[in-house]
Amino acid sequence: MQQLAGKWRRSGIPVGFVPTMGYLHAGHLSLVDEARKRVGKRGRVIVSIYVNPTQFAPAEDLANYPRNLHRDLQLLRSRKVDAVFTPGDAEMYRREKSMEISAAGFSTYVLEEKLSRLMEGASRPGHFRGVTTVVAKLFNIVLPTVAVFGAKDWQQAAVIRRMVADLNFPVKVIVAPTVRESDGLALSSRNKYLSQELRSKATILWRSIQQVRSAVKKSSRPISAVRLKEQLRQMIDSEARLDYVEFFRPDTLDAVPTVSKGTHMALAVYLGKTRLIDNGLV
Ligand code: PAJ
Repeated sequence: MQQLAGKWRRSGIPVGFVPTMGYLHAGHLSLVDEARKRVGKRGRVIVSIYVNPTQFAPAEDLANYPRNLHRDLQLLRSRKVDAVFTPGDAEMYRREKSMEISAAGFSTYVLEEKLSRLMEGASRPGHFRGVTTVVAKLFNIVLPTVAVFGAKDWQQAAVIRRMVADLNFPVKVIVAPTVRESDGLALSSRNKYLSQELRSKATILWRSIQQVRSAVKKSSRPISAVRLKEQLRQMIDSEARLDYVEFFRPDTLDAVPTVSKGTHMALAVYLGKTRLIDNGLV
């Protein structure tokens, strides 16, 4: 992969890159289209499919994470992607199947120390260390000029942006909009885990965002974040278990005491055992 991408890059061909964990849906494919748009006809688009073990905590869904490589490759072929990178654990971490990643085989990590402490980072210790490490590795292998991430994982995109700036990766990071079902549920590989009953409750994430938007629209003054959090917790409680909801500045992720137009919000809820996240500009 590195030789092929290196050849393209040395010839001055722009390379667009979309990293994924597979089980592709229309959200992933919109990133592929965005990458194609960015690099143009003479550019190349590369997608990686790799369920990265270092971003899953021991108790999380790594073993059950949905996979369907055959279908993914068909979808990417129809999207006219130029190359798909599908490494295994042995290549990425010198790990044999079902073995722990050990310092004997791999001992260097990339750690972003500010943005990654909040929200997803607080709920999933070690998660962003795994994300920044694998994305840094993928950038070094794929050598992209442009990389496209989804707004669905707003914090992840912010952490990657910071990593790219701090460590001087020669890549332009693009964030593309969240693709949703008609009832507002953000597309996610994890939606597959939901029973019919939980699937209908899952709109609670989108309804929460809409609720805050209309409250802010109606109010002539900024609204207390603490008050909004309380209201949302009550609203969500009857249908799902709220993990967190936060209000922050979209660029720095700094928490804000009051919510008004331009504030960003993000939340995570459990529907049964399935944990879903969403976010949006208020
Ligand atoms: P994954 O969850 O497969 O997502 C791959 C990319 O698709 C991410 O940039 C994510 O934000 C984007 N995406 C997911 N759902 C989306 C939706 N409904 N609309 C728009 N974009 C969406 O995120 C990861 O994988 C991993 O952490 C990865 C970056 C690949 C590192 O392992």
